[in-house]
Amino acid sequence: MNKGRVAVFLSGRGSNFAAMVRASRSANANFSVCLVICDRKDAPGLKKAARFNIPAHYISPKQFPDKAAYENEICAHLQREKIELICLAGYMRLAGPVLLTRYPWRIMNIHPALLPSFPGLDAQEQALRYGVKVSGCTVHFVDAGTDSGPVIAQRAVAVRDDDNAVTLSKRILRQEHRLYPWAIRQFFAGRLQIRGRNVIIK
Ligand code: GRF
Repeated sequence: MNKGRVAVFLSGRGSNFAAMVRASRSANANFSVCLVICDRKDAPGLKKAARFNIPAHYISPKQFPDKAAYENEICAHLQREKIELICLAGYMRLAGPVLLTRYPWRIMNIHPALLPSFPGLDAQEQALRYGVKVSGCTVHFVDAGTDSGPVIAQRAVAVRDDDNAVTLSKRILRQEHRLYPWAIRQFFAGRLQIRGRNVIIK
């Protein structure tokens, strides 16, 4: 079987990346994580990539005159590796027009809240401050906005009275690690159909 070729973009820890790699190396997986792009030199995710033996490139946006030039450099790596799907996983930048145009509806992201609630940074803190009883995670296609693209899948978790950002984040993260590989599998099985804002799972 020809496996779908995935690139993961990250800026930090890389636990979602690791979950994807593990899923991709299980029996009957339909995708393979072929490349990591990272914008932070000290990101622990880079070490994880080395341990998994997956090519990883640290590319500093500061080396480029503008975002388009930075993303063109990234695209050169993506094309070389024949990447079909980009998965943002703790990547602390918005995808710009270059990436969005070259990979239309081929960029996913995971967010640690039930969108459209609590987009942007510190979603778990936002949820706790608001006082919601249920939160969770969302995998969505990426558009030009912040966490605003069509929702592919969500998982809910209970918010407990004694939760803090650490305990809630942990509970959500466990679900992230299941949901993201699941969404990637659906993508490469050809089951995701976008109709306006709605993603239909066939
Ligand atoms: C996750 O909580 C994810 O939802 C958010 O950034 C965090 C990344 O964690 N977008 P990790 O680097 O995958 O461990």
